Amino acid sequence: MSKPKILIARAIFPEVIERLAQHFEVESNQLDEPFSREELVAKLQGKDGALTAGSDRIDASVLAACAQLKICANMAVGYNNFELDAMTAAGVLATNTPDVLTETTADFGFALLMATARRITESEHFLRAGKWNRWSYDMFSGAEIHGSTLGILGMGRIGQGIAKRGAHGFGMKVIYHNRSRLDAALEAECKAGYVSKEELLRTADHLVLVLPYSPASHHAIGAVELALMKPTATLVNIARGGIVDDAALAQALREGRIAAAGLDVFEGEPQLNPDLLRVPNVVLTPHIASASVPTRMAMANLAADNLIGYLKDGKPLTPLNPAVLAPQ
Ligand code: DGY
Repeated sequence: MSKPKILIARAIFPEVIERLAQHFEVESNQLDEPFSREELVAKLQGKDGALTAGSDRIDASVLAACAQLKICANMAVGYNNFELDAMTAAGVLATNTPDVLTETTADFGFALLMATARRITESEHFLRAGKWNRWSYDMFSGAEIHGSTLGILGMGRIGQGIAKRGAHGFGMKVIYHNRSRLDAALEAECKAGYVSKEELLRTADHLVLVLPYSPASHHAIGAVELALMKPTATLVNIARGGIVDDAALAQALREGRIAAAGLDVFEGEPQLNPDLLRVPNVVLTPHIASASVPTRMAMANLAADNLIGYLKDGKPLTPLNPAVLAPQ
């Protein structure tokens, strides 16, 4: 019997490709040039499944052109590259990679917060440029982390991980805003208090964004929200580009309306708003929050497990649209 056919749309670990090749006829894009929409459609012809990344947009028009496709396994917890309703309507299963990246991403969120508040990147650039010729009392003095107020917008698993690090590790007061309030036990575990979005913006010394991207969260932080924040505040975005209005943020940073920002994700990435490159008080990283070797390996393996589980036995591990599994 011939094996099902899959496309691995971006480069992944060779050992995971080998695993997949035991079950499937595999075409993989180890050159790692993201496919255009047309290339993606062409590559998906005759494929039963795809292992995708955030750069692979699966929408109604792609689905209409790929009749054989049964599953797209995203190697990411975020799935705003999927038009989920259209996938469900087309009977195409969507999966993501939750849990395996939670702690690593929370670690990174905290690292970015610390680098931003304590001006680590900015001071390193100064030193590397040979500008350091004497100690001075206020050189690169930043904001306090321990004992300060940590605000979290989006209190899913990663938000909770950041809350625990802040509350238990750094004695921070943690406040959060989320679509739905956590239950009391989880709030106690995270030592986090629920507040309105406005109170979050007004009172946080450091605000970390961890909410999923959707049309409803587009520009959740724009000029109006930035104006509510303390002038000494730090903003960290490890969620998705588009949640922050990057142009408004660059202006706020330039005008000192907030103190600093740490950004791992950008509107239109990998392109950046050039204004962000012109302000010194921003730490910029290229969407690497989940990028530890074991975690990226776990993400690739979970995506592979989803493909194998679904195409072999009809049992994916982490389905996003389980309605596809139980057709009426
Ligand atoms: C995720 O898993 O959503 C990360 O942003 C990696 O893309």
